Amino acid sequence: DMADYLVKLEKQFTLTPQRMRMIVDSFIETLERGLTAKGQEVPMLPTYVFGWPTGKEKGSYLAVDLGGTNLRVCHVELEGDGKFEVTQTKYRLTEEQKHADAQGLFDFCAECLDNFVKDHFGDEDGKVELDEPIPVGFTFSYPCEQDRIDHGVLIRWTKGFGAPGAEGKDCAELFKQGLEKYVHRDSQKVPVKLVALINDTTGTLIASSYVDPATRAGIIFGTGCNAAYMEKVANIPKIKDLGLPEDAEMAINCEWGAFDSTTHETLPRTSYDVHIDETSNKPGEQAFEKMIAGLYLGEIFRLIMCEMIDEGILFLGQETYKVEKPFVFDTAFLSLIESDTTDELLTVTGLFAHFFALDTTVAERQFMRRLAVLIGTRAARLSACGIAAIVSKQGLLDDSTEPAKTIGIATDGSLYNKYPKFPQRLEEGLVDIFGEKGRAIKTYHAEDGSGVGAAVIAAMTKARKDAGF
Ligand code: BG6
Ligand code: GLC
Repeated sequence: DMADYLVKLEKQFTLTPQRMRMIVDSFIETLERGLTAKGQEVPMLPTYVFGWPTGKEKGSYLAVDLGGTNLRVCHVELEGDGKFEVTQTKYRLTEEQKHADAQGLFDFCAECLDNFVKDHFGDEDGKVELDEPIPVGFTFSYPCEQDRIDHGVLIRWTKGFGAPGAEGKDCAELFKQGLEKYVHRDSQKVPVKLVALINDTTGTLIASSYVDPATRAGIIFGTGCNAAYMEKVANIPKIKDLGLPEDAEMAINCEWGAFDSTTHETLPRTSYDVHIDETSNKPGEQAFEKMIAGLYLGEIFRLIMCEMIDEGILFLGQETYKVEKPFVFDTAFLSLIESDTTDELLTVTGLFAHFFALDTTVAERQFMRRLAVLIGTRAARLSACGIAAIVSKQGLLDDSTEPAKTIGIATDGSLYNKYPKFPQRLEEGLVDIFGEKGRAIKTYHAEDGSGVGAAVIAAMTKARKDAGF
């Protein structure tokens, strides 16, 4: 019955502090391996973003942000004192666009940018005349191998994308081809220029550091899950040949979502996680991400429900076909279930009645809340393991000054921003791993990581160029 099931699920989804520390150890080794050579499971991608911003970066920039829930175009005005102004428009991507020919997808990004530029900088006929092109940062949040800042070869699509014709190609180039068709179409002058391709985690890292020097990592908890941090060039053996100064620093896009995908030795995967992986468009990839990210949590929940329907435990005698459709159960539903803290859980009654035409008993609803807690907590505690690995690897907690210096973890994404208790569970997880000193690690939402981050990175890139690097 339900109670027996709960006991079984609790066993599978609970992470003890001891287990978490084992995961952290293996995670640290994996991160280090990624820095040593190209093509590792967790690729630890050099971003060609050198060092921290000064906070004095200035100017007017555009950012195109592809990779989260929405496609966004932003105009960012950096004011040079850690302050900024952002204007943005969001566009929806269809499932078809994610799977049709890649050039079409990049053309669409260019078209959105074109519309945005005409709306914001054009005259009545949409004609744009500018003295010099506006620099564009392209936040393209998929694993890209870069050998300079304005270029990036897509290693593999993640987060359910599958548009053929992009993997193995330079996506900055594909976007530029889109720009040729749209933005440059009816103007003699070129109004925009792509200057940087960045990951959302790197954007978040840099945007947060622009306003808060305590920032040590940038992490996305959204549709996908990933982290970036600043590494000493001396610790990145695989780029030794570049002959960069030993004391230089470069941001690393970890692409940690791929952790434990090859051997599955470390993470406590359940049959539900295995099912999600095997039925995904990318089986055998992103094992860590598939246990954490917003794209998958609702589906884990749904798979458990379906198993219990099959065994005659839930929704007896009712038509259940509506919940039997893959991915109908959005992670936002889990947030809603967890937000209802009343005994009766009437929000949940409404949710099941409205979306799935199902009647629920109080016992069923309470069971479902418990289930949401298990799934949401596991996601947060696994994420804490990743953060702990980055913090430990850099020895950030070794400092014995009292009071301990804050280790700032800048975050963005719907899971962190909207899932009840996710931030608290993360921080509890860190204390379980490190003990009381783990409290020095503070996570917080970074204001518009991708837009502002892209702008600051574009400004930093220009400053380096002007200085002759
Ligand atoms: C947004 C950032 O706020 O968060 C994006 O601008 C990022 O760059 C996104 O990808 C992640 O969150 P989600 O929930 O939209 O995937
Ligand atoms: C996926 C992508 C990664 C991105 C993350 C968050 O893990 O591979 O590049 O940072 O999602 O959007």
